[in-house]
Amino acid sequence: MTKENPYLCIPVEHGEQIRRRLIDLELLNTDFKLVAEDGELYIPLIDHAVLDQILPDLDSIAYSTGTREFPSTYTGPTTLRDALEGILTEEQLDLLPRAYDLIGDIAVLEIPEELSDFQYAIGEAFLQVRSNFTTILGKKGAIKGTLRTREYVLLAGLDKTSTTHTEYGCKIAVNLAKAYFSPRLLEEHNRIAQLVGKNEHVVDMFTGVGPFALHIARKVDCKVTAVDINPNAIALLKMSMPMNRLIGQIEAVNHDIRNYVKATKSQIADRVIMNHPSGSSDFISEACRLLKRGGIMHYYDFIGGEDPEGAISVKIKQLVSKEGRRIDEISLIRRVRDSAPYEYHIVVDAIIL
Ligand SMILES: C[S@@+](CC[C@H](N)C(=O)[O-])C[C@H]1O[C@@H](n2cnc3c(N)ncnc32)[C@H](O)[C@@H]1O
Repeated sequence: MTKENPYLCIPVEHGEQIRRRLIDLELLNTDFKLVAEDGELYIPLIDHAVLDQILPDLDSIAYSTGTREFPSTYTGPTTLRDALEGILTEEQLDLLPRAYDLIGDIAVLEIPEELSDFQYAIGEAFLQVRSNFTTILGKKGAIKGTLRTREYVLLAGLDKTSTTHTEYGCKIAVNLAKAYFSPRLLEEHNRIAQLVGKNEHVVDMFTGVGPFALHIARKVDCKVTAVDINPNAIALLKMSMPMNRLIGQIEAVNHDIRNYVKATKSQIADRVIMNHPSGSSDFISEACRLLKRGGIMHYYDFIGGEDPEGAISVKIKQLVSKEGRRIDEISLIRRVRDSAPYEYHIVVDAIIL
C-alpha cells in the first residue's frame, strides 16, 4: 500500500545518523518504509513544518524535501473479515456487516443479533483495519421519538458521539446521541441545494443539524429559515455555520414548527423542505400556510407496497387538497434510499397553487 507523504532526502551514507536523530526528535513517520534510490535515501516525515528541528544536523549535508509515495509498514489484515479469521467461524464471518455509516471520524456498525457476543472484537478489528477512524459505535435499537435519535454502544476507540462530517465540502457538526444525522442523504442534500434560486426564502421545517440549510446557503444567496424542535440540533447547526463559507443567510430557529407557523405571517416561503419522513404528513397544514402560491414543496415519506410512487402521489394530492390548496405539478418522485425491506424513503417535489 502506498500514499503521498512529506519526505527528507539525503545521501544514503548519512542515512543511519539522520534516521536515528529523526526518531529521537519524533519526526519520523513510522507508518511508512524508507526508500533508497540512486544513492539517495527518502525518509518519510510526520510533517514538513517540523523540518526546522533537524536543520542543525543537516549543516554539511546536501538535502532536499518534497512529497512522494512510500510503501506502508503495515503488514496486518486489510479487511474486517481477514482481521476476524480464527476468531469467528466461517458462518459467522458471512454475517459480518458489509455496509457501515462513516460520519466524520466515527464509524457506525449494525452488528447482527447472532454476533452480539463478538461486538467488541468486531469493533476492535474494524479499528485495526480502518485506523483513520477514532471511534467505532454499534447501533442500539431503532431511531425513535420526536427527535428521531437512537442509542449507541461504544465498540472500540474513543468514547464520543460528536464529530464533524463533510459532504461535498460542506462541514456539518454532528452529535449522534443528541440529534438526528444520516450520511446516507448527501445526494438529496446536494440535489435540493442545486434547485434553489437567488433571493428565495426557503423554510427547512425539520432541519435537524441543518444539512439542507448549510448546503443551500453555501451555494446560493438566499434566506433559509431552519426550524427544529430539538435544541441540540439547532445548537449544532449554529456551530456549523461559521465552519462554512456561506453566501446565503441561515436563520436557525429552535421551535416546534406548529408554533413557528402560528407566530409567522402566512405565505412567506418560496420553498419548504419537509424531511421528517415518519411525521411529515401531519404537517401539511403548516407547509401550506408557509408556501406562496406557486411555491415548491419537497415532501418526504416512508412508503412501501407494489407501487410506492403511485401511492405517494395520490397521498400528497389528497393531503394538500384537504388544506384548500392544490398541486399544479409533481416535477419529481425519487426513491432516496431503502428504509426497510420493501419500503422506501421517498421524496416528491410538487408545485403548490
Ligand atoms: C429526520 S430528522 C431531520 C432530518 C434533516 N432534515 C436531515 O436531513 O438531516 C427529523 C427532525 O424533525 C424534528 N422535529 C420533529 N418534530 C418537529 C416539530 N414539531 N417541529 C420541528 N421539528 C420537529 C426532529 O427533532 C428531527 O431533528
